[in-house]
Amino acid sequence: MAGTRNRVAVLHGVNLDMLGKRDPAVYGTFTLPELETQVKRWARELDLEATFFQTNHEGEFCEYLHRLPERADGAVVNAGAWTHYSWAIRDALEVACVPAVEVHISDVDSREDWRKASVIRDICIGRVAGKGV
Ligand code: DQA
Repeated sequence: MAGTRNRVAVLHGVNLDMLGKRDPAVYGTFTLPELETQVKRWARELDLEATFFQTNHEGEFCEYLHRLPERADGAVVNAGAWTHYSWAIRDALEVACVPAVEVHISDVDSREDWRKASVIRDICIGRVAGKGV
């Protein structure tokens, strides 16, 4: 519908293509394609149009963020370990200027200390962590 702002980009960063193989006690047993199918279903129920992107390459993730305003009205971002230290991804997310929610499958605040840091937290409109898929 013209003027509708319902496009949500679901972005997965480094190592999230390994879901299903990574420690299932922490990340569960869903593979990334299974997770995306589930998110697509939830999106449809909410009348949202979800698109998906995953890469293990930081520069590619940045370039995707640069082009984000052309293709999405909002973003759900699980940047994986980049969350904790990638100032490049923070800068690129700021350039994108699209409302974003930071997401983590695991409860990062109750794991190792280095996972408690997030370089994107303050530029996101919300955060969901520790709720699994
Ligand atoms: C993660 C948590 C990060 O600390 C970790 O590096 C990941 C996944 C999560 O979804 O729980 O790769 O973002």
